Amino acid sequence: MKWVVLVGSVRRGSYNAAVARALPALAPEAVAVTLLPSVASLPIYDGDIEAAGMPGPVTAMGAEIAGADGLVIVTPEYNYSVPGGLKNALDWLSRIKERQPLKGKPTLILSASPGALGGARAQYHLRQVLVALDAAVMNMPEVMISQAHKKIEDGRIIDEGTSAFVGKQLAAFKAFVEKLA
Ligand code: FNR
Repeated sequence: MKWVVLVGSVRRGSYNAAVARALPALAPEAVAVTLLPSVASLPIYDGDIEAAGMPGPVTAMGAEIAGADGLVIVTPEYNYSVPGGLKNALDWLSRIKERQPLKGKPTLILSASPGALGGARAQYHLRQVLVALDAAVMNMPEVMISQAHKKIEDGRIIDEGTSAFVGKQLAAFKAFVEKLA
C-alpha cells in the first residue's frame, strides 16, 4: 500500500513538516509513505495559466496522488483556517479533469500548532474544501497536536504519547483504505 503526504507549511523548521517526516516510521507495516513536493512548487492559481496549459508541477502532483492508495494532509492553521499555499494546491488539483486525483481518494488529516487547539479549526475548514473535491476523508480518530513546541524539537517528535497517538491513527487509516478498496 502506498500513501503520499501533502504538507501545508513551507517553513524550514515547520512542526507539521516534522510530523510528516515521522509518518514513514510510524505507519503500519507494508505501507510506503512518501512526501509530495512542496505546495510552494505550484504557482498561484490563475485561470490564464490554466488556459495556456496545466503547469507541470500540478500535473505531476496530481499523478502522484492518483497513483497512491491514500493521501495524508499535514497542515498548520492560519487565522482559523487552511494556509493559503495548501488551499492553492487543492484549487489547482481540483482543475485536473481527467482522472480527478482526489475523487474518492482515502484521505487523512493531521495538524500541529503551538496553540491549545492543535489546528482543529483548520481541519474543519479543510474537510469542507475536501467535500468539493469528493475526497473520502476519514472521520475518526482525529489527530490535532497541540503545544507542538513542547512535543517536537529539532524537527523530530520527542513526545512518545504523540508518536503512539499518530501511530494508532495511521493503523486506523490503513483499515479505512482497505475497506474502501
Ligand atoms: C498562525 N498560527 C496559528 N495557530 C493556530 O493554532 N491558530 C491560528 O489561527 C493561527 N494563525 C496563524 C496565522 C499565521 C499567518 C501564522 C504565520 C501563524 C501559528 C502557527 O500554528 C505556528 O506558526 C505554527 O508553527 C505553524 O506551523 P508550522 O510552520 O510550524 O508547521
